[in-house]
Amino acid sequence: MISIRFLLRPLQQSSKRRLSTLSQVIDKRLNSELDSIRQAGTWKSERIISTSQSAHIKVQNSKNDLLNFCANNYLGLANNTEIIKAAKNALDEYGAGLSSVRFICGTQTIHKQLEQAIAKFHKREDAILYISCFDANAGIFETLLKEQDYIISDELNHASIIDGIRLCKAKRLRYKNKDMSDLESKLQESHNDKTENVIRLIATDGVFSMDGTIAPLPDIRRLADKYKALVFIDECHATGFFGKTGRGTEEHFDMIGGVDIINSTLGKALGGAAGGYTTGPKALIDLLRQRSRPYLFSNTLPPPIVASAMKAIELIDNDTSLPGRVLDNAKYFRQEMQELGFKILGDDHPICPVMLGDARLASQFADEMLKRGIYVIGFSYPVVPKDRARIRVQVSAAHSKADLQRCIDAFAQVGRQLKVIK
Ligand SMILES: Cc1ncc(COP(=O)(O)O)c(C=O)c1O
Repeated sequence: MISIRFLLRPLQQSSKRRLSTLSQVIDKRLNSELDSIRQAGTWKSERIISTSQSAHIKVQNSKNDLLNFCANNYLGLANNTEIIKAAKNALDEYGAGLSSVRFICGTQTIHKQLEQAIAKFHKREDAILYISCFDANAGIFETLLKEQDYIISDELNHASIIDGIRLCKAKRLRYKNKDMSDLESKLQESHNDKTENVIRLIATDGVFSMDGTIAPLPDIRRLADKYKALVFIDECHATGFFGKTGRGTEEHFDMIGGVDIINSTLGKALGGAAGGYTTGPKALIDLLRQRSRPYLFSNTLPPPIVASAMKAIELIDNDTSLPGRVLDNAKYFRQEMQELGFKILGDDHPICPVMLGDARLASQFADEMLKRGIYVIGFSYPVVPKDRARIRVQVSAAHSKADLQRCIDAFAQVGRQLKVIK
């Protein structure tokens, strides 16, 4: 009879070898990379929220309420009672999830309804849902563009656009942030290529999330027309609240319908849960349903999330004052902070980056703000360029004037303490 110990010996040896390989990777690679992040002062620690997302929250290990100035909860809908009710009803009626991708057996009536609502909201022919906008950005470029095509993108585009572009085989040209003469020279370069049937696609964030600046869409459209290019924008930081009725950057410039393809998120102003989409011409949406890999190979958006986004769109359509509220708050905050002597980047947008430069200073500043009951986060490399560290304040329609004033007063105190302002 063969002894069991004899049988186990090779297994034990291979398991030992595996553990030693793993511990070498951990020691020599992972731990040294982790140390270098700590030493650079760019370590990101996560504070743990023990309430729902809101302007007023609690975090673990802190007794007091905090004023929250770092969520993308632009319209304050993340804990809206009507949205929660709609999500609960959908949970009861349609279940927790589909256990499937869309094309196998994962499409319910509400998914089609939400796609139609999104297309109508943006005045487009059709829309396609994804589990996130990151996925929408991962799917669009590879599906639309082939080797002979050109993708011409802004250097400060969101990481998900950059990653999406990496997946496609088109020729890549990058223009300096919002620099229209550089964009024109890149378009000219692509235009010199006389290959037939070439797609030239300009890709830009509508609003740049780290800077709170706005892409010059009318100029981009003009150049696109001159060089026969298409325009794609990522509207994550505009959909639902930017522009008079929340239609985003196009509406801000009074040019609804002026770009060719829009990608955006359901995870910020539109209820804050999760989900993303592409909206545009029907033929493009049809092609994405056939070819887009994150759509074909990832699970369906869960019904409660679909219902919450649908309710958010309905609320925005029924209360046109909602976008105005967040933009008024942003204007007030920016003005008061600039008067105090802070350098605030960006245009009239609720993303208000308070520039500090040094990564450690940004992190220390955020810690001091937390002691005063204000929850803000320091952003440093690699999220923003080196020596351009900042605190990105995000203003919401849910903030009262008193909330804004408390935040401004705390900035004034900490700014003087750390010698950022006089
Ligand atoms: C500009 C931009 N695009 C895309 C995304 C990804 O969105 P989602 O969270 O829906 O994946 C984000 C999220 O931070 C973003 O800011």
